[in-house]
Amino acid sequence: MIDSHVHLDDAKFDYDRENLIENLKEHGLDRVYNIGADLKSSIASVELADKYEIIKAVIGIHPHAASEYNQEVEDKLIELAKNENVRAIGEIGLDYYYDNSPRDIQVQVFKKQIELANKLKLPIVVHSREAAKETFDIISSYKEKYKDLKFLIHCFSQSVEMMREYVKMGCYIALGGVVTFKNSKVPKEVAKEVPLENLLLETDCPYLAPEPMRGKRNEPMFIKYSAQKIAEIRGISLEELLKATDENTRRFYND
Ligand code: NI
Repeated sequence: MIDSHVHLDDAKFDYDRENLIENLKEHGLDRVYNIGADLKSSIASVELADKYEIIKAVIGIHPHAASEYNQEVEDKLIELAKNENVRAIGEIGLDYYYDNSPRDIQVQVFKKQIELANKLKLPIVVHSREAAKETFDIISSYKEKYKDLKFLIHCFSQSVEMMREYVKMGCYIALGGVVTFKNSKVPKEVAKEVPLENLLLETDCPYLAPEPMRGKRNEPMFIKYSAQKIAEIRGISLEELLKATDENTRRFYND
């Protein structure tokens, strides 16, 4: 199994990080991608990837931290990206739910990092919350400009119609614990309808633990619960689902 989105640098893993990472293989994981959200966690992602073979790094500035983006930060990201363990830019995007950074700054910083990813020839991991239309408009304008640029919409929480529009542009869709929640009607519909070749699995750990672990600290091994649920929704075997999602993840990250 592959987990396309983890935050193992998070403080919630401070007391058992090493042990947990060393046990990933035993729990059936063969790759996890540690995602940065600001400069500090981007550096931590690269350090983890340098230390552990099973981890690859994704670096970038989350919309929450967009206000801290400047030329110096961008130069540091460029420097970090020289490390071959860095597989993508992310998570970047728009978050109009928390509005931790002003919206015009979020848009500006999202666009700057898309340009950066294009320059570095790296795929992009997108975070989008309460900003479905704005995110879509920005991504589709860049897909027109740079056809080869790859986008993954992480923790996809939009409608089936929006999913279809993203798929039409060749974007990837990542689903996680939310599909196992009782009242998640729309994510379940997306899990059923998304073309298998566009689908990735993720935990977003330590956040969003799936049922039956809901409310606990999420861990990469809990990805099996979301995988089982999605296989069940699609009426395919777990093996068939994992074969496809693992291949998709490697293809997306060029790994
Ligand atoms: Ni995340």
